[in-house]
Amino acid sequence: MGIVHLVASTLAALLSAVAVPSPDIADCIVRRARGRDDGPAFARAVERCETVVVPKGETIVIATALNMTGLRDKHISMEGTIKFTDDITYWTGNAFFFDFQNQSTFWLLGGHNVLLDGGGTLDGSGQAWYDAFAQNSSLIRPITLTVFNGQHITVRDITQINSPEWFNFVYGSNNVLYDNLHINAVSTSNNTIKNTDGWDIYRSDSVVIKNSVVNNGDDCVSFKPNATNILVSSLQCNGSHGISVGSLGQYPGIYDIVENVYSTNITMSNAQNGARIKAWAGPNVGSGIVKNITFNGFLEENVDNPVVIDQCYETDAALCAQFPSNTLIQDVWFDNISGTSSGADKSVVASLACSPDSRCSNVNVNNVSLTPPPQDGMATYSCQNLNVSGNAARLFGTCSSTG
Ligand SMILES: *[C@@H]1O[C@H](CO)[C@@H](O)[C@H](O)[C@H]1NC(C)=O
Ligand SMILES: *[C@@H]1O[C@H](CO)[C@@H](O)[C@H](O)[C@H]1NC(C)=O
Ligand SMILES: *[C@@H]1O[C@H](CO)[C@@H](O)[C@H](O)[C@H]1NC(C)=O
Ligand SMILES: *[C@@H]1O[C@H](CO)[C@@H](O)[C@H](O)[C@H]1NC(C)=O
Ligand SMILES: *[C@@H]1O[C@H](CO)[C@@H](O)[C@H](O)[C@H]1NC(C)=O
Ligand SMILES: *[C@@H]1O[C@H](CO)[C@@H](O)[C@H](O)[C@H]1NC(C)=O
Ligand SMILES: *[C@@H]1O[C@H](CO)[C@@H](O)[C@H](O)[C@H]1NC(C)=O
Ligand SMILES: *[C@@H]1O[C@H](CO)[C@@H](O)[C@H](O)[C@H]1NC(C)=O
Ligand SMILES: *[C@@H]1O[C@H](CO)[C@@H](O)[C@H](O)[C@H]1NC(C)=O
Ligand SMILES: *[C@@H]1O[C@H](CO)[C@@H](O)[C@H](O)[C@H]1NC(C)=O
Ligand SMILES: *[C@@H]1O[C@H](CO)[C@@H](O)[C@H](O)[C@H]1NC(C)=O
Repeated sequence: MGIVHLVASTLAALLSAVAVPSPDIADCIVRRARGRDDGPAFARAVERCETVVVPKGETIVIATALNMTGLRDKHISMEGTIKFTDDITYWTGNAFFFDFQNQSTFWLLGGHNVLLDGGGTLDGSGQAWYDAFAQNSSLIRPITLTVFNGQHITVRDITQINSPEWFNFVYGSNNVLYDNLHINAVSTSNNTIKNTDGWDIYRSDSVVIKNSVVNNGDDCVSFKPNATNILVSSLQCNGSHGISVGSLGQYPGIYDIVENVYSTNITMSNAQNGARIKAWAGPNVGSGIVKNITFNGFLEENVDNPVVIDQCYETDAALCAQFPSNTLIQDVWFDNISGTSSGADKSVVASLACSPDSRCSNVNVNNVSLTPPPQDGMATYSCQNLNVSGNAARLFGTCSSTG
């Protein structure tokens, strides 16, 4: 920095110090206070400072829920580690609760123009939760980071490890960008890393997720009700349940929309699904629309179900014929999808299963080439209750009718 610039910025700092009580700069650098909860100091720093730094090499420990909503023009530079405690008793009573799927979270981050970056690590201390959940499946495990009622929020250049449940939730927000995240959930016991989704997007618009590496045990990215205008690009997902629309249309009286979603340049390895859309059918469910969804450029390896539409989700064929899904699926593209399945569904490499009564329309497949393991023989592309279009439609032949 030049002398002139230094003097000018010092002057500016002094002037602003005269205008409003300005925080001592030291308070904007948050360090570990031994044996204590660093949550309040961190929250206070974010409230008072424009830029908050967690220095490299420092691990701050958070033992109280972080409500950082309604922020304006903030930069949190996480160069070190922010680690949440694994005090299950505390968090089950004090994490922020969402009615949506009975979820909860450690950290609400929202407001206008907020940047979280710095190259550091956000640690959810998931192991205790993975072990406790194996004993008690009604345990409500917190989501690590929730972008809540936010506009122009950026999260970039960070690592996230061992979330107790979902890593990222986007709720009631718009113009949210995630760029260059490394997400990793690993269990050191025999208990698995259940429900550790990379991202779930709900009631949010204009969200971009890109250039990230995810190793987890549930959806890599999931588009929940009212996720619109979403771009997902250049992700390497491993061990996940895929890039998933839904499940949608579950709750009676509620209308779910997922519209304008483009997922491109995805590698999907050792996963349960690749590109997937699922919607409920049956009595006493909800309704909605899934429209303009593109999965383009998926390279899949050892995936149980590489390409999936399931519009009779959790509903057997007879019931689905009686109560077809009221969540319509329109304008879908599976383009440039290649690689291998795991053989979990024998020779089936793609399954497009719509409800009877034409509830899916304009579903396109182009440049699709998937192979099952050699012992399962030739690939089977299966489809029900729709007309498939595109240059790979011939692989599917004429779809069967179940209604
Ligand atoms: C978080 O803080 C905001 C602003 O102080 C408050 O309005 C809101 O109720 C708090 N949210 C929760 C879930 O406690
Ligand atoms: C949330 O939990 C309550 C109480 O356990 C249960 O009745 C309700 O069905 C759950 N809601 C959802 C959406 O899972
Ligand atoms: C399981 O977790 C639920 C939700 O936190 C709690 O209410 C219940 O007491 C727990 N059950 C046991 C056996 O710990
Ligand atoms: C994990 O499972 C394996 C195989 O079932 C078993 O041999 C091992 O003892 C288990 N480890 C622990 C820590 O429970
Ligand atoms: C596709 O993603 C890979 C990472 O998996 C990245 O290296 C590459 O640059 C991306 N390609 C394009 C065209 O964005
Ligand atoms: C990828 O996922 C598989 C299956 O879950 C796991 O065994 C493997 O360790 C993961 N690889 C990496 C690099 O994390
Ligand atoms: C989704 O948006 C529509 C239209 O605004 C609204 O009617 C519906 O209640 C919303 N659904 C959810 C789950 O928020
Ligand atoms: C479909 O969605 C993509 C991705 O969000 C968007 O760019 C495109 O404009 C949408 N098409 C229509 C017809 O809305
Ligand atoms: C599919 O891949 C081809 C060749 O790499 C490319 O030309 C085409 O634009 C891709 N399709 C889409 C929809 O991007
Ligand atoms: C299919 O692949 C061809 C050749 O690579 C490419 O020109 C075309 O754009 C692709 N089609 C789509 C819809 O991606
Ligand atoms: C397939 O297309 C034909 C001709 O447009 C239409 O009559 C029929 O209803 C379509 N079938 C389904 C299952 O959508």
